[in-house]
Formats: sequence, C-alpha cells, structure tokens
Amino acid sequence: MADPKKLFIKTYGCQMNVYDSERMAEALGASGYVTTERVEDADMILLNTCHIREKAAEKVYSELGRFKPLKTANPDLKIGVAGCVAQAEGEEIMRRQPLVDLVVGPQTYHRLPAMEAAVRAGARAVDTDFPEEDKFEHLPKAPRAKRAPAAFLTVQEGCDKFCAFCVVPYTRGAEVSRPVERVLREARDLVERGVREITLLGQNVNAYHGEGAGGTWGLARLIRELAKIEGLARIRFTTSHPNDMEDDLIAAHGDEPKLMPYLHLPVQSGSDRILKAMARKHTAEQYLRLIDRLRAARPDLLLSGDFIVGFPGETDQDFEDTLALVREVGYGQAYSFKYSARPGTPAAEKTPVPDDVASDRLHRLQALLSDQQRAAQEAMVGREVSVLFEKPGRMAGQMVGKSDYLHAVHVTDPCAQTGQIARVRITRSGPNSLAGELV
Ligand code: 5AD
Ligand code: SF4
Repeated sequence: MADPKKLFIKTYGCQMNVYDSERMAEALGASGYVTTERVEDADMILLNTCHIREKAAEKVYSELGRFKPLKTANPDLKIGVAGCVAQAEGEEIMRRQPLVDLVVGPQTYHRLPAMEAAVRAGARAVDTDFPEEDKFEHLPKAPRAKRAPAAFLTVQEGCDKFCAFCVVPYTRGAEVSRPVERVLREARDLVERGVREITLLGQNVNAYHGEGAGGTWGLARLIRELAKIEGLARIRFTTSHPNDMEDDLIAAHGDEPKLMPYLHLPVQSGSDRILKAMARKHTAEQYLRLIDRLRAARPDLLLSGDFIVGFPGETDQDFEDTLALVREVGYGQAYSFKYSARPGTPAAEKTPVPDDVASDRLHRLQALLSDQQRAAQEAMVGREVSVLFEKPGRMAGQMVGKSDYLHAVHVTDPCAQTGQIARVRITRSGPNSLAGELV
C-alpha cells in the first residue's frame, strides 16, 4: 500500500474551529491522509482561519507567504484555506496568494474530500456556500479511535444577533441548531471512546433550539438529557449571550451536578450607551441582575467574559463604567480586546477612538482582570476540587488536568492517571495554573 499522505492543519480563533479542524482531519482521513505536526512533511496544508479581528485575518496571509519554499521543494504540496477568512474573502484569497489551491468556508467541510480530489487532479477549488444540509452528518465517519478525556461537540452554529462590531453572522451565517438525537448520538460515541467531559459549542450556544422528541428543545433540556449518559462526568458550554440565558439553564447550574460551575458570559462593555451602540439589546444592570440569579443558583460559579475597549464613541466615562462593572462582577477569567473595525459590519462606518487611547484602556482593563484572575486562583489554595486529568505534564511524573472551575491543575503523583477524575487539594497558585495533591 502507498504511504499515507500527510495533512498539516493549523487552527486559529475559537474552539469551534478546533472542533472543525478535528472533523476535517477525520474526513480527509477517509481520503488516505494522516495528520502530521511537521509542516515540512505535509502533502496538504490547511489553515483553519479566524476573521474576528483584523490581526487574526492578516496573520493568514503572512503565514501563507511562508509556505512558498515548501511548495518549491514539493510541487505536489496542496495548500488550503478554511474557516472564516475563507468564507469572508473567498476567491480573493487565491488572487492575493497564488499558492493557494483550495478555499473552503465553514459550512461546506463535508465537501472537502471531493475538493481535495479535484485539487489533486490539478484544479483550484472554492466553496463558500451556505448549504441546506448538516455538514456534520455528511462528513465521512471517523475511525473509532480512542479520544482524549475532554472533547468539544458543536451543537449550534451561526448567529442572528448582529452585534454592531461582529463578523460572525456574515462568516458563519444564520443560527442553526443540530437535532437533539444527532447530538446525543455523537456524545454517546465520544463517551464510548473514552471522553469524560464534553464542552458543547456554539457561537450562540445558549440560543440552542434543536428538534427533539416532542418539539424544540432548549440548551438546558439538552444538557439534562446528556447528563443521563453513564460515563459522561462533566458538561460545559460556550459561548453565550446574556439575553438567551433561559430560566431552566440558570436552574441547571444549581441542580445538575454534571454541569460544571464555570460560565463564559460575555458582556463587552459596562456602559449602557455603548451597549446600545453595539446593539447588544441589554443594559449593564440587566447583566448584573442576571449574574445575581446565576450566583443564587450556584454560589461558587466562576465567571468569565469578553470585553471590547475603544468601540467607536467610547468616552472615558463609558470606559469607567466598564471597569465598575468588572469590579462588581469579579471575574475568574476573561478576554479583552481592542475594537477592530471589520468590513461589512455597521460599526465599521463610525469614527474610531484614537489608537493610543484604546491601548491605554486595554492595559488598564487587563490589569484589573488579571488581578481578579489571580485572586480567584489564590482563593483556591487550601480548597479541595475535582480534577479531570488530561495528559502528562512537562515535569517527570506530573499530570495536568482541569478543575471543575476550568483551572489548569498540576499534580505529581504516580497514582494520577489520564482520564481519571480525582479529588485534589490545591497547595499553590502559579501565574496560569494551580498545583495540588491527591486527597
Ligand atoms: N473587535 C474586537 N473584538 C471583537 N470581538 C468580536 N468582534 C470584535 C471586533 N470587531 C470579540 C468579542 C467577542 C469575542 C469572541 O471577540 O469580545 O465576544
Ligand atoms: Fe473567529 Fe468567529 Fe470564525 Fe470563530 S467564528 S473563527 S471567533 S470569526
């Protein structure tokens, strides 16, 4: 038999892309590819790209430029661009970078094997459709290989919210939920292959409304059903919009033991004026009261968020309002970004905040958020948490896992095994992780 062809995939952006890259690797596995970590060895390079901020999108072109010597050395090397830049720019990518053989948007990955065959035969292929069919159902089935203990499972894609800054409704399209039965089937399959923790993914995952027995199911009902799967120990979901936080989902944080006490709930800004300009459709106060309800259901809930500073029109006072909201909530973890104008979005038409002002705000916000993160980590010292061990650490005999609160935890103990969930007493807090001992 001929040697298998080698596939190198590089993934940018969100966890949905991580999931998609896994599925693309499986799909091309059926066409005779194995994945490689070494780009020099590749017969096919796929960049799974992100368009969310300008920097993310520009990285793709600089990366593509670097593949030129590889293609000179190996004329059979094929180069593909997938993901949100592919969706947003389509054929333009091939004009800007003639090295590219294939451009495939996020909704047509099931067509990748056919595109690969066409490209092997010498064609250049572009597909950025939004087809009717569910791409995940039409992907070649994965070999039933053993899986790492924590897995992603996309249940919803796209977004109908149209926040004024965001490209997602354009790159990922309208909101679509996968039917309940398909999600359950995939989850059971993951568990049979060794998975103990599933993170349900969607750009707007708490807007999930999949068809199931008796009608349309919301995310809480889906989680409660998934929780019945024996062997599945932990469930998480990301990323959510405050306005879709239905009552039963709030309740589930209190009464569904498999649902982990961690929630990523982006607010973007603490100023009502800016929230309105962003078309977020809620106020700072509504967000804060929602947090109160979540904490009433689950007092130890660790909160995470996303923030944008320097949105057009943001004044010093607006920014102070954001800092005030952050102080009031107390985040365990958060991401913050400088606003980046994205072509085709309504906010891109507005006058931007001067860059030095935006940078200064970003530094101040990040300082506050990292203080909060440190405090949240230090508060874990002396406590007992449960840890799912995911892989050996860098030091001899060390295992790394995640606590229920999603903190990375290191334990050095010969009894700690991959896939095991153990009680761990936290002994130390480092810059980005915790250390502990088995109880
Ligand atoms: N500029 C900066 N940050 C953005 N995000 C989304 N669009 C933009 C943009 N145009 C951030 C938001 C979102 C996260 C995934 O990325 O905070 O929640
Ligand atoms: Fe980036 Fe958004 Fe696409 Fe994810 S969905 S890769 S965050 S643009």
